Amino acid sequence: GILALAGCGTSTDETESDTNGSSETEQGTDGQATEQADEEKKVLQVGTDAAFAPFEFMETGEIVGFDVDLLAAVMEEAGYDYELKNLGWDPMLESVRSGSVDLGISGITINDDRKETYDFSVPYFQSTHMIVFNEGVGITNANDLEGKRIGVQTGTTGADAAEKIVGQNNKNISKYETTALAFMALQNGDVEAVVTDNVVAAEYKKNNPDAKVETVTDEDNFESEFYGIMFPKDSEIVDEISSALATVIENGTYTEIYQEWFGEEPNLDALTN
Ligand code: ARG
Repeated sequence: GILALAGCGTSTDETESDTNGSSETEQGTDGQATEQADEEKKVLQVGTDAAFAPFEFMETGEIVGFDVDLLAAVMEEAGYDYELKNLGWDPMLESVRSGSVDLGISGITINDDRKETYDFSVPYFQSTHMIVFNEGVGITNANDLEGKRIGVQTGTTGADAAEKIVGQNNKNISKYETTALAFMALQNGDVEAVVTDNVVAAEYKKNNPDAKVETVTDEDNFESEFYGIMFPKDSEIVDEISSALATVIENGTYTEIYQEWFGEEPNLDALTN
């Protein structure tokens, strides 16, 4: 018989069409179904940490954000159905590592350290770090982090960036499970500064005018980074998904999504160089 994997849709886009053009059938109801599943494209499991606006965040019970829209475009281009799950940062990394999800999208920086454990798509977003600090704390560059109480999200490149300045295991660094929690700690005075990705820092400042925070970046101390979609090492879908992403970047879809979220044109040259 004809096999079709259950069209689970996605947790974020109920209207997504069945990109396989197959009808909905229960998966694995007979022995044949599971065998033939290899020929059909399976429903990909995607992990994220949806506390990182504007890339991924919760809004009225749904995961939304730039990454979420980009993911939808890439999956449509590649012809996959998928399920996006808000796993949290550390569990997401672990789930991608172990292969219990097929990929992760979460403003994830591509770096050499992670390349030892994971595979990545082509880069899709350029980022650097930014310091968000409470008014009056007086930070003009990253060196001023020395002696300040700093909040970061555990296991992020922002944490690495802060440690590079004030030293690893510095007692002044507090690590939080999410970037949103680090911002809360800033707001209630537990920390004086947060180091995170520049676009996320700027979004927080914009959305919280009453929080009385300032932001500063530092080209000398903070390197430029690129986000990529993350896969288990040696995943068989890397090339397929990565070239779908490249197509979406080239064919104008990426630019449309970018403009919707950021209100300006992306610098595509920065991604391809
Ligand atoms: N770009 C940084 C990193 O890869 C932070 C990403 C955090 N993303 C998130 N959804 N919390 O380490």
